[in-house]
Amino acid sequence: MLTFVPEEIEDYSVQHTSKLPDYLNDLIKLTKATRDDAMMLSGPIEGTFLQLLVICTRAKRILEIGTFTGFSAQMMAAALPDDGEIITCDIDQETAAIANEFFLKSKHGKKIKQNLGSALDTMLELQGTFDMIFIDADKENYSAYYERSLELLSDSGLIVIDNVLWGGRVLNPKDETDIAIAGLNDHINGDVRVKHVMLPIRDGVMLVTRALN
Ligand SMILES: C[S@@+](CC[C@H](N)C(=O)[O-])C[C@H]1O[C@@H](n2cnc3c(N)ncnc32)[C@H](O)[C@@H]1O
Repeated sequence: MLTFVPEEIEDYSVQHTSKLPDYLNDLIKLTKATRDDAMMLSGPIEGTFLQLLVICTRAKRILEIGTFTGFSAQMMAAALPDDGEIITCDIDQETAAIANEFFLKSKHGKKIKQNLGSALDTMLELQGTFDMIFIDADKENYSAYYERSLELLSDSGLIVIDNVLWGGRVLNPKDETDIAIAGLNDHINGDVRVKHVMLPIRDGVMLVTRALN
């Protein structure tokens, strides 16, 4: 599990967070049983946090970069109104198939549109604005995703960026991925277009809105 919090504190926090529906517990179990990369799941705390952000911002249109097995998309979709939509994209056919299987099990699945292909290509083709954009795919492209997200963001929209602490490696970036994430964090910190906060939830979550006037 990716977190900076001691295991017993993480467990206590999960126990004191709203319970997941059975089909999402089943999705987590299946992902953990079948995937070596199951730690990519955002999990109950971050998933519920995303859900509360959707509720509080009254988001109607969401873009997700990085579907994986669909857990975070499902959490956000459940908080959208009936006429809301979430577009989620991924390059991995195998995980996209698992995600689709579970979208069909949920009454909120009809709000989710899956796009298979490179996230950057998807983002470049998209029209209209989004109230919330969740960036959670390949870290080397994070800066490009951030810049395109600012173009696609509605006036009062929210960008949520996952893994901004990258297991602590941002403190002493060494490889390409460390440098990409640390570089984006520094870029956002100096970006006068935005207001932002870095939260040490799980592997670090950055919230970004347009700067206040
Ligand atoms: C951390 S996982 C997403 C986790 C998911 N949001 C959740 O909470 O369950 C990252 C995903 O990004 C996908 N990905 C990697 N590179 C990509 C790219 N260039 N375009 C689209 N998706 C990509 C991977 O296949 C993987 O499924």
